[in-house]
Amino acid sequence: MKNTVVVGAQWGDEGKAKITDLLAEYADVIIRYQGGCNAGHTVVVNNEKYKFHLVPSGVLYKNKFCFIGAGTVIHPETFLEETTELIERGVDLSSLKISPLASITLPYHIDIDGISESNSGKNKIGTTKKGIGPTYSDKIGRYGLKIQDLYDEELLNSRLDAILPLKNKMLKEVFGTKTYTKEEMLQYCKKYAEIFRPYVYNEWVSKLSGILKDDKKILFEGAQGIMLDIDYGTYPFVTSSNPIAGGAATGSGIGPTHIENVIGVTKAYITRVGEGPFVTELTDEIGEKIRNIGGEFGTTTGRPRRCGWFDAVLSKYCVLVGGLTQMAITKIDVFNDFDELKICIAYKDIRNGKIYKDYPTNINMHKYLEPVYETLKGWKSNLSDAKTWEELPLNAQKYLKRLEELVGIPVKIISVGAEREQTIILENPFK
Ligand code: IMP
Repeated sequence: MKNTVVVGAQWGDEGKAKITDLLAEYADVIIRYQGGCNAGHTVVVNNEKYKFHLVPSGVLYKNKFCFIGAGTVIHPETFLEETTELIERGVDLSSLKISPLASITLPYHIDIDGISESNSGKNKIGTTKKGIGPTYSDKIGRYGLKIQDLYDEELLNSRLDAILPLKNKMLKEVFGTKTYTKEEMLQYCKKYAEIFRPYVYNEWVSKLSGILKDDKKILFEGAQGIMLDIDYGTYPFVTSSNPIAGGAATGSGIGPTHIENVIGVTKAYITRVGEGPFVTELTDEIGEKIRNIGGEFGTTTGRPRRCGWFDAVLSKYCVLVGGLTQMAITKIDVFNDFDELKICIAYKDIRNGKIYKDYPTNINMHKYLEPVYETLKGWKSNLSDAKTWEELPLNAQKYLKRLEELVGIPVKIISVGAEREQTIILENPFK
């Protein structure tokens, strides 16, 4: 068994897409297990950029079974746009399938996300406004629609009869926004049923059972990152799903006993979009330099990302709650021109001098924390052509070794540039 989860080990945008894209070549099956079109992955192949929100980037390879699991939430129009563009560019989507148990982002989920964000002033989360939170809230509250509901007229009618009166009352009285008639919703659902029809996979139980029986290699593709996890992230400044490796089991339909490796993808520094605590954030010219060299602007929203030094305290926490077995470090080339690099090895409480080596999960106290740094020398050379560990400059090797020591798991993949070829794979979990 070589099944592997690829999970973001920061606040998303760690470069997971590149790692999943590379490993997908060696996997038989790729499963996206949580999140929705809040995610934005860019994969560069032969100088061509492909942007993914929901579809596993594994579709770029032929004959891989790509599955969007029950733990995801799907906005039909975005899914249609994404699949249409891929088809127009010649990508074969015949092996892309969706779980009938995935949840649907409905128009009012997007309305509510937008209004909640606009009305919450300094309490805003900084969401992608893609309706993610409201869709998951309805799923958990049992007021949502699953894809399979679209194909059963009687059930759909009774679901809408149960959902709409309450939803409309809320839309009108709480959010002061447009309400939806049953007729209108039925029209939407009819359209959605057609969008999803070629992809809905009712045979998923026998397919996944067969995949396990035949010992096929499964790659679980996480979206967002561990620090955005609804249970273990910096709540409430999080997304509404479980990006941690545990989420791969609940969100895919394949239990935890079938997962062997968990690759935590982390940049050589840290970024975050949206609000919320970020102890090593750099609001000075160094942060600006990282943002500009690293092109740190959101794929989904275009927002500038907040940047900061690598945080070993946070990363150790991600190893624990994320179940990480190894790290993939991305964007190390962004530091090519830096004289020195800092790594946060502890937090200091400015009120009493108390040192925290383990991540304090009460984010209310984070405003009192300052990073304790260790400084390492930069390599001041372009490492983007390095093909092996030995070809990396000595100071880059030292930096990576120190990260391993501090975080406690080995670095197995190092990305030195955007192209597929610009990656040093020290150990491939599928080989
Ligand atoms: P939501 O997932 O749109 O509800 O947004 C909640 C938080 O997660 C916000 O801080 C977003 O910026 C962040 N977020 C959601 N998806 C991503 C992602 O793919 N990359 C980085 N941040 C994300």
